[in-house]
Amino acid sequence: MTSPTLPGAPYFSRRDGQLFVEEMALSALAAQHGTPLFVYSKAAMLGALAPYQRAFAGRDAQVHYAMKANSSLGVLQVFAQAGCGFDIVSGGELRRVLAAGAPASKVIFSGVGKTRDEMRFALQEGIACFNVESEAELDVLSEVALSCGKVAPVSIRINPNVDPQTHPYISTGLKGNKFGIAHDETLSCYLHAASLPGLQVVGIDFHIGSQITSTGPYLDALDKMLDLVQAIEAAGVPIHHLDFGGGLGIDYNGDTPPAADALWALLLARLDARGFGARRLMIEPGRSLVGNAGVCLSEVLYLKPGEQKNFCIIDAAMNDLPRPAMYQAFHQILPLALRTAASTVYDVVGPVCESGDWIGRDRALAVQAGDHVAVMSAGAYCMSMASNYNTRGRAAEVLVDGDQAHIIRERETAQDQMRAERLL
Ligand code: LLP
Repeated sequence: MTSPTLPGAPYFSRRDGQLFVEEMALSALAAQHGTPLFVYSKAAMLGALAPYQRAFAGRDAQVHYAMKANSSLGVLQVFAQAGCGFDIVSGGELRRVLAAGAPASKVIFSGVGKTRDEMRFALQEGIACFNVESEAELDVLSEVALSCGKVAPVSIRINPNVDPQTHPYISTGLKGNKFGIAHDETLSCYLHAASLPGLQVVGIDFHIGSQITSTGPYLDALDKMLDLVQAIEAAGVPIHHLDFGGGLGIDYNGDTPPAADALWALLLARLDARGFGARRLMIEPGRSLVGNAGVCLSEVLYLKPGEQKNFCIIDAAMNDLPRPAMYQAFHQILPLALRTAASTVYDVVGPVCESGDWIGRDRALAVQAGDHVAVMSAGAYCMSMASNYNTRGRAAEVLVDGDQAHIIRERETAQDQMRAERLL
């Protein structure tokens, strides 16, 4: 039997039966900090960024980390120090970028529902670009910019209507999605933007979906975008930058997405062939930079054999790891220390009072109560989507760099959760 690859290898590895992150045993981190505990590898994050940087060497290009994937300050700091800008979707995310010590000038602001307050704040801080998603938003942004004596740099997000061949909840570039401006309306929208006094058109963007594991959808979307750029420029509106969004998938369980540099070799060849290779290029990767750089450690609380199912009840739940409940997503679940005992097939579930609170179904595990497991590939869209359901405090987070572990978030207490609440 071939065992599936270890997500996050080589930064995560098995040594003498023990799971390691870089130079540290995960069991030591669980013992020291308690569980549930998110553990990230700094080298894995920089290792995921490197193929993008290699692909763009010598180009006028900027990586904007889509921080919705993991917006913890320590994570942002790693990417800021590596030269990344950020793709944000709220005023709160902009405050996080600033708190992490990164400049607003490398921030782009996506999202279909920016409020006037968020626009004003972003304009005052001087972000690089607003990725506008509707005609109505153009009007409001122009008005807000004028009212604060600014000109808002804008890119319009087009919906190229290509199928990214991913989960319907995370495909965003199809006609039925709420995102972007319909392909057919692009030209009129750009002419409208160019006519508004508070706006300066600077770019064009698309983002077709997430966890994309093939190159075809990107190439199709790229061609559609370049056709549009030619039409828009022919109508007299210059486009300075091209932004291709994010979306590149990771290996959760034998998935085989293209490597970032391989994907970009293809896209850059197409850009060069069509005469756009010298344009300013932007991308907004999220998951592919952090997904396999993190795991969630959890303790086995109880084993509960049943007639139809055996349950392995762990101390992490859907509030910590919402992806299985929300998208039927698969995360590998691995014991931190291997046992020689025969394995049993379990549904791995959390303590939350919902049948939907499952982390993995039908998993063969050799574990006992008190053992620890790692939920793999948990660096993206886990902590950033965590909630306090059942008044569960959000987990602590540790960032490992070699043989050093830095706490980047303390475990949330019930007191923290009740801080803003008042009795009658
Ligand atoms: N840019 C825009 C405009 C986006 O909407 C997104 C993600 C990204 C970039 C980054 O995409 P990535 O490189 O991470 O695929 N919670 C879901 C994923 C939602 C993605 C939303 N947009 C999940 O856990 O699978």
